[in-house]
Parts: sequence; structure tokens; C-alpha cells
Amino acid sequence: MSRWLVTGSAGKLGHDLVTVLAGLPGIDVVAAPRRVLDITRAEAVCEAVDRCDVVVNCAAWTDVDGAEADESGAFKVNAVGPANLAAACAQTGAVLVQVSTDYVFAGDASEPYRTDAPVKPINAYGRSKAAGEAAVREILPDRGFLVRTAWLYGERGPSFVASILRAAAQREVLDVVSDATGQPTWSYPLAEQIAALGAAALTGQAPPDTYHGTASGSTTWYGLACAVFEQAGLDPSRIRPVTSENFARPARRPAFSVLDHSGWAQAGLTPMADWRDMLTDALGRPFFAELRGVLR
Ligand SMILES: NC(=O)c1ccc[n+]([C@@H]2O[C@H](COP(=O)([O-])OP(=O)(O)OC[C@H]3O[C@@H](n4cnc5c(N)ncnc54)[C@H](OP(=O)(O)O)[C@@H]3O)[C@@H](O)[C@H]2O)c1
Repeated sequence: MSRWLVTGSAGKLGHDLVTVLAGLPGIDVVAAPRRVLDITRAEAVCEAVDRCDVVVNCAAWTDVDGAEADESGAFKVNAVGPANLAAACAQTGAVLVQVSTDYVFAGDASEPYRTDAPVKPINAYGRSKAAGEAAVREILPDRGFLVRTAWLYGERGPSFVASILRAAAQREVLDVVSDATGQPTWSYPLAEQIAALGAAALTGQAPPDTYHGTASGSTTWYGLACAVFEQAGLDPSRIRPVTSENFARPARRPAFSVLDHSGWAQAGLTPMADWRDMLTDALGRPFFAELRGVLR
């Protein structure tokens, strides 16, 4: 029996990870939402990590625009938090999986980012997450795993896929950005991938390294919106492609967020499915099916 701690368990990814782990044999999962464990509190983190074999940090400051106005607040959660968890794992011998982001990159590449590409964040959130990665690498070189994800959608919290479905019910024409490219990733299969990585880490099959936990293939936000419309039986010509200049926001976003997946082979794992297949599966789940039903 192995004992897993999931921090940020009320969030999009944390919720799905607890569901996935609870369905696996030989795993005892401890779900820790923020009200139970604030990862910025070092002492509380040590107590929570005690007697755990694997810790997956799904807790984060995810308000990208808000981080511009309060960079130190974002650093506290996204850099100090992972450092606290890594220090606790260093003491107890636990494995740590730290979830990170494509926003550690500038997004000015034209080829998928390899896991060892130099980080160059262009906003405060990205800087805070890059600092979290660096802390885990430094404090826990032997048992620290980084999983970068991007363009995440799921049942919990704000999500582009749910927003598009809701907007479709309210507006005839939708303007969607077509000059940013990425890998739309459903939180549930990402949770399954992280569970597989943690298990491979425990057996020594997976080396401590950086892994890219995003769907295969790539598209733009416009492409994703059109795919959602098509799969929901709506007319995609209701969506107009626009540039990101039409949506002025406090934080700059990377224009190219495509991550390379070749690193999974060293852990004996296969990369995640294509984003279109993933979307089809997600839209068949009760939560999204309910949203689709509203449109009929
Ligand atoms: N969403 C995306 O598109 C995306 C893209 C790339 C990477 N990621 C990364 O993926 C991971 C999971 O993101 P997500 O989408 O699941 O985020 P989420 O839905 O915003 O969940 C994050 C959770 O962390 C909790 N939290 C915030 N501060 C905390 C603290 N000090 N201590 C403990 N818990 C705290 C939040 O609690 P409250 O609700 O109470 O604030 C929330 O439940 C994060 O590392 C994020 O950086 C996400």
C-alpha cells in the first residue's frame, strides 16, 4: 500500500487526481484542499507530508493577470510552496511531483519545446512557476519530478471549453483568438498520466526529471472553439478568428505553447492522446454533456 498526498485537491487537476487515485488498487489517497493544507506554511507541510510515499502538488496561484499586480503573492504560493514541499520530502524520503506550466517559456519558438529548453518567462505567473521548478530541482534532485501542463480544461473552476459552450447559448457570434497555438489538455487524463508517473517513480522505473503533460497535436484557441462547436452539433461559422490584440489583458501570454513529449519514453510511459480525441471523450462526460444539453 502506498500513501499519496494531493495538495490543492479542490482545484481542476487536484479534484480529478483524487478521483483517479481513489480508483486504483494499493493506493491510500489523502486529499488536501487549501483549507486543510496551506502549502506556504512550512510546519503544516511537514506534518502533512509525514508518512506519505508520493506528494503531488496541484496547489498553485493560477490567476495569471492577478499575479502582475501581486508578484510576491504569486511567488509565495508558486515558489515558496513547492520549496516547502520539497524540503519536507527531502526529510521523509517521499517522491514529489510538482505540476508546472508552459508559461515558463517565452512562446517565441517555432518547434515544440523540449523539456531541457531554457526557461524564459514573460509574465509574473511564469516567473513564479519557474522559481518553483528551480526550488524542487535544487532541494530534491533525487526524487523531484516536474510535470508541465498547459491549456487545461476540466469540470472544476474556469475552463475554456465550458466557457465556449456557455457563450454559445448566449451569443450568436463569438470572437476567438487565432494567433496563439497550444495543446488543449483535459485534466482527467493528465491526472491518470501523473498517477502512472508517480507509480513509476516509486518502483524506480521513472527517473526524476521534467515531463511534458499535455495532449498531443496542437491548435489555436479558435481551432479549439470550432472543434467544440462541431462536436456539440453547432455551426462553427458562428466563430470569428481575431488576434489577441482584441483582448487587452494585464499579463502577456506566450504565443506558441507546444511542448515536446519525447521524455515519457525514459519512464516507460506513452505520451498523452491527441487533443481532438481527448475533447471527444471529455464532451461525453456527464458535466460537459449537461452543458451541451443546454444548447439543444
Ligand atoms: N489551468 C491551466 O490552464 C494550467 C495551465 C498550465 C499549468 N497549470 C498548472 O496546473 C496545476 C493545477 O492547476 P489547476 O488548473 O488545477 O488550478 P486551480 O483549479 O486554480 O486549482 C489550484 C488550487 O490550488 C489552491 N491553492 C491556492 N493557493 C494555495 C495554497 N497557498 N495552499 C494550498 N492550496 C492553494 C486553490 O485553492 P482556492 O480555490 O481556495 O484558491 C485551488 O484549489 C497548477 O500548478 C497550475 O499552475 C494550469
